[in-house]
Amino acid sequence: MSSAGPPRLSNLALSRKEDFKTFVDAPRRTQPERLNQKMLRALNERARAAYDRARREWHANLGPIRTPQLAALHGDLWDILDSNLQDGDKAKGAVAVDAFPGLGKTTAVLAFAREFHRREIAEYGAFTAQGHERWPVCRVGLTGNTGMKDLNRAMLEFFGHPGRRTSTAAQFGLQALDCVLSCEVRLLILDDLHFLKWRKTSGIEVSNHLKWIANEFPVTLLKVGVGLADKGLFSEGESAGETVLAQTGRRTTRLGMPPFTIDTEQGRRHWRQLILALEQRIVLAGTYPGMLADDLSDYLFARSTGHIGSLMTLINRGCQRAQRTGTERLTRGLLDQVKNDEAAEQARRELEYALHARWATSRPRSGRAAG
Ligand SMILES: Nc1ncnc2c1ncn2[C@@H]1O[C@H](COP(=O)(O)OP(=O)(O)OP(=O)(O)O)[C@@H](O)[C@H]1O
Ligand SMILES: [Mg+2]
Repeated sequence: MSSAGPPRLSNLALSRKEDFKTFVDAPRRTQPERLNQKMLRALNERARAAYDRARREWHANLGPIRTPQLAALHGDLWDILDSNLQDGDKAKGAVAVDAFPGLGKTTAVLAFAREFHRREIAEYGAFTAQGHERWPVCRVGLTGNTGMKDLNRAMLEFFGHPGRRTSTAAQFGLQALDCVLSCEVRLLILDDLHFLKWRKTSGIEVSNHLKWIANEFPVTLLKVGVGLADKGLFSEGESAGETVLAQTGRRTTRLGMPPFTIDTEQGRRHWRQLILALEQRIVLAGTYPGMLADDLSDYLFARSTGHIGSLMTLINRGCQRAQRTGTERLTRGLLDQVKNDEAAEQARRELEYALHARWATSRPRSGRAAG
């Protein structure tokens, strides 16, 4: 159990290269040992406090779990990046990860960025031939109503570029390009791209800017966001002769991040694997095999409607409560007291009804016990 030592990951913003590096280099958390009730009672006050702190932090950071969605996304991203090794004069294919909130886009993309960064550094070294630090990934998270200039500045901020205070949007853009070139960035991630200020003129300006980046920057552009398709980002431009948009559309590969579903046997199997994986990671004294996978499968599906974000919130909060109150296990009664996000709560009611009436089940045939 560490107290001082490594930097605290909870304080990172990941919008600066140093933070990003800390994230990349952080060792995987080690799961606290699972003690039974008797061992738990035997701990003295200090040891108990330390153990509980370690568990709180552990439960708040369960993941990332290698879900089928995450594995598929990573597979696609490797394909695209590895095939984007053309020389600098050819525009590279861009990627858009477009899915509803809370389905794990950011988590999956960051996990990929981490692996990619490590692979590049291992293969090419920490410094470029010119002696600059190598930064294979530049990641920018957008916030409410970011304009072009802010976007360019955010890229500079990532590199901690000194010239970032007084410039025009175009100058910022050029400086950012400079950083990208000298640090040999290969993957540029723009997260929450839907926050980019979208003009009434169906985003031609935005699209042009992204196209400029895609053309001039020798990187694979990875756009992440909600409803990017609706913003016309990669439409074929049926309306108003938007050939510019069509051009972006042709070069962008769209990847999704679907929720879990229970209407096919395969979907139910994936769901079961997810909650089995979660069960392994829960460190409560009163857990037993099947606590989630057998006894709470339907319940957890109803409360999360297959959205991993809602599921993880529920499990995290449930574990904190079980630990704090001494229940030391997850039950329906306990989870009923735990609040979840509003979207999940709304969708829950209908689904619970269907599950209760046995019109639906979340459990695959193979894993279903009688009763
Ligand atoms: N593979 C995973 N394993 C464990 N937890 C995950 C996984 N994917 C997502 N989560 C959890 O779900 C929550 C939501 O995930 P994330 O922020 O990645 O979603 P998002 O699609 O980027 O959402 P938004 O559109 O709101 O940015 C996070 O708290 C994260 O911890
Ligand atoms: Mg996100």
